[in-house]
Amino acid sequence: MSFKQKVVYQIYPKSFYDENGDGIGDLAGIIKKLPYLAELGVDMLWLSPIYPSPQKDNGYDVSDYLAIDPRFGTMATFEKLVAQAKTFGIGIMLDMVFNHVSIEHEWFQRALAGEKKYQDYFILREEPTNWQSKFGGSAWAPFGQTGKWYLHLYDVTQADLNWRNPAVRKELQQVLDFWLDKGVEGLRFDVINVIGKDAQLKDAADGIGKAEYTDRPIAHEYIHELNRASFGKHETVVTVGEMSSTTIENGVLYTQESREELSMIFNFHHLKVDYAEGNKWTKSMFDFHQLTAILHEWGEKMSDQGGWNALFWNNHDQPRALNRFVDWQKDRVAGAQVLAAIIHLNRGTPFIYMGEEIGMLNPTYATIDFFDDVETKNAYQMLLQEGNSPSEALAIVQSKSRDNARIPMQWQATDNGGFTTGTPWLKPGDYQHISVEKELANPQIFSFYQQLIRLRKAYPIIAEGSYEGYEKDHDQLMAFIRKLGQERLLVVNNLSPSSAQITVPNDCLNGQVLLSNKKIAIKKQLTLEPYHTVAILYKQE
Ligand code: GLC
Ligand code: CA
Repeated sequence: MSFKQKVVYQIYPKSFYDENGDGIGDLAGIIKKLPYLAELGVDMLWLSPIYPSPQKDNGYDVSDYLAIDPRFGTMATFEKLVAQAKTFGIGIMLDMVFNHVSIEHEWFQRALAGEKKYQDYFILREEPTNWQSKFGGSAWAPFGQTGKWYLHLYDVTQADLNWRNPAVRKELQQVLDFWLDKGVEGLRFDVINVIGKDAQLKDAADGIGKAEYTDRPIAHEYIHELNRASFGKHETVVTVGEMSSTTIENGVLYTQESREELSMIFNFHHLKVDYAEGNKWTKSMFDFHQLTAILHEWGEKMSDQGGWNALFWNNHDQPRALNRFVDWQKDRVAGAQVLAAIIHLNRGTPFIYMGEEIGMLNPTYATIDFFDDVETKNAYQMLLQEGNSPSEALAIVQSKSRDNARIPMQWQATDNGGFTTGTPWLKPGDYQHISVEKELANPQIFSFYQQLIRLRKAYPIIAEGSYEGYEKDHDQLMAFIRKLGQERLLVVNNLSPSSAQITVPNDCLNGQVLLSNKKIAIKKQLTLEPYHTVAILYKQE
């Protein structure tokens, strides 16, 4: 099966299911829930990092690429997971955090101890530049007592690797081969478009530095090299690159098949439409026109130029899309369905983030002490310093914190949502009202996802068809047309809490409703109810 027909499910291992009762999700817990995931119909599980790590950034600070963190299990459990998942037709996708390592990694420790070989694994300078860390503050920190500085684009405990050193690239190829030999079928590359820093490392005009290291041509070369040296030798391996602030032009280059880089990319532009003036740490309504303009532009250009998108609303870094884009108090179920349809009937490979299939929401925490995430804590302090009151600062981080996604999976209505018999590492959300158990007793969202996943496999137009926006300036509806030969699929999504009208192409009148989450009759003037999604399959005469 091509990656165009597949659907990937993301698991945040720490929060999925805790099998041994220590409050932290684990690999044995994932094995236990494989039947549930198979029932949903997904093809691949992306696991956020499961390697040994001091967990300063929840595993994205890797201290050993070739082992399993004991808090998640053993290598034997991992091998069992790969084998058991396979019996369900499910592949495992691992997270490759290759821009940086934890400062507890042996390479960094040996560099600090003075080994020249390992000092060349990092980006060391006599003088820092004015670049800013993405988690706040300077991107440089003192390198031990040497008087030098090391670069860290993320947390101070995440030291950037020096990709200009061929020995580093070789090490990373070996990491890939190690896991591929274990039967891993997918690779998710963390912030892979920032690996190629400018050779000069100079002060940035904007005082931030993004342009000095984002999407540089050399990043494409490095990715191509990894592909040729490692994963490209395995026909069926699926790769997805996480792209920080990328452009469509680069998105095409990363994913055009002939360039032998990646299968697909994540971009985040559509998840910044509720940032007031581009600032994440604000609380504001999303801009509908901005959202649809971005989705259409990416959809059309990637389609026209042969690129491929990974499609998603949620991941472990994002507050829940239901809280951001839907009046969920009014209609959580239909809201979840319309969000799902926008992605699953689109051109690209859909990703589901755990809990999305049951309509999970952000938790409500009474104080900052309940939060765990390093980025959230830094932002809270910054907001206070900028003069916000504690309650204002709390409201802002509440709406944007990455912990919103990271709360324990809600399996049932009692006992920490059935996630653990111990004390959960992060305070759970509202499992009394939303849980797997409750959803499966009367499936509405879960069953809708099942249907969408089946449709992608049954209808080549969904997996392969081209993409064109329809009525792109509509105030409430996000509509598009997929095309394959003479076949057409019109998808109309009402992402608003009021009903809306649209005029459909004449040929639709002889078409059939492939999917609708509310009652519909095909008419030239189509009326959609609030949070209504309709897909009409027809022939172009
Ligand atoms: C990516 C990860 C995020 C992590 C960062 C640094 O954005 O998704 O969780 O903090 O990279 O590794
Ligand atoms: Ca555990």
